[in-house]
Parts: sequence; C-alpha cells; structure tokens
Amino acid sequence: MKALVMNCSPVRDGATAEIARIAAKQLAGDFDVKSVCIDDYSFAFCKGCRNCHNTAKCVMTDDIPRIIAEFERADVIVAVSPSYWADIPGQFKAFIDRCTPWCNTHEPHASISRGKKGFVIAQRTGPSMKECERVIGSVEHFYGHLEIECCGHLGLCSVERKDDVLPHIDEIAEFCRGISASL
Ligand SMILES: Cc1cc2nc3c(=O)[nH]c(=O)nc-3n(C[C@H](O)[C@H](O)[C@H](O)COP(=O)(O)O)c2cc1C
Repeated sequence: MKALVMNCSPVRDGATAEIARIAAKQLAGDFDVKSVCIDDYSFAFCKGCRNCHNTAKCVMTDDIPRIIAEFERADVIVAVSPSYWADIPGQFKAFIDRCTPWCNTHEPHASISRGKKGFVIAQRTGPSMKECERVIGSVEHFYGHLEIECCGHLGLCSVERKDDVLPHIDEIAEFCRGISASL
C-alpha cells in the first residue's frame, strides 16, 4: 500500500515539516511512503473562469497534474497543515481551488480513482482545538469533493516551531498506528 504525506505549509523545515517527517517515518513500517511539500510545486491561482465545468480540464498548464499524480498513486493521503489566520495556508488553498476540474459538483468532471482514504493532521500555535477543527474542516471538505474518504484527523495545539513538536510525538505515532489499523 502507498501513502502520500503532504506538508501543506510553504515552510520546508518548520513544525509542519517535522510532524510530516515523524508521520512518514511511523507509516514507513506499513506503507511505501512518499513525502511532498506544497512548496515543491509551482502553480498559478485559479482564475475562476469555470471552463473546467464544461471540459473537466484546466486552461492553465503547470504543476497541478504532478500533485494530482501523487494523489492518484496513493492509497492513503495524509495532509499535514498549520493554521495560518485560522485556516489552511494560502498556498494549499490555491492548490485546492485549482482542483476544481476534479470537483464532483459539476459534470463533466475529472476523477481520481475511488477507494482512497484521507487523513488530516492540523497544528497551530494557539491553545484552542477549535481552530484546528476549522483547518481539518477545510481539508475534509476538499477530500469530500474529490471522493477521498475522510478516515481520521488529529489536532495539535501550542506548536509554533520544530521543537514544540517533541511533546506530541507519542500522539502522532498513535494516530499513525490508527492509519495502519484502518486498512
Ligand atoms: C502567516 C501565519 C499565520 C498564522 N496564523 C495563525 C493563527 O491564526 N492561529 C494560530 O494558532 N497560529 C497561527 N500561526 C502559527 C502557525 O500555525 C504555527 O507557527 C505553525 O507551527 C507553523 O508551521 P510551519 O512553520 O510549518 O508553517 C500563523 C503562522 C503564520 C506564518
């Protein structure tokens, strides 16, 4: 089985990257794991032209199909996202907007294969879980429209930098054991 762990932060070596690294290491016992960062890719903002509503294709040519190819390859997708202004980072939102050709609310639409399981790890600096839930809600909304089954989420508070992840290692490991057990 193949797992994709996606750092949805534009920071390649921050707290989100550290959580993604720990999750990927834990999952490597049970999965062939590929790790990517949203910042590995270059893509433009959605123009809102809605051409894809009629064609199931985007009018732009950039790295979006490369990210979708990683989704297609994976049986399990783990999105790891920080809270930026109480939601997902703009770079990840820009990616989601560009996934409109794959959105199941219009016909025709493009599709990735059925049967994929989606998980979310959200983290933030502030102390309240409510904001993590908002981040999780945004990612799960996206999963839903790509028909990726939402199978679990974890919220971590009081995380700003890499070192703040240390007290959460056991929680992350347990969450990942749950991912393995869900198969
Ligand atoms: C632009 C920006 C906005 C942020 N907004 C919030 C916020 O609204 N609430 C919060 O708890 N933390 C907020 N944070 C803190 C991040 O969630 C936290 O530092 C996280 O660990 C950053 O992970 P990263 O460095 O891997 O991107 C913000 C950080 C940045 C850079």
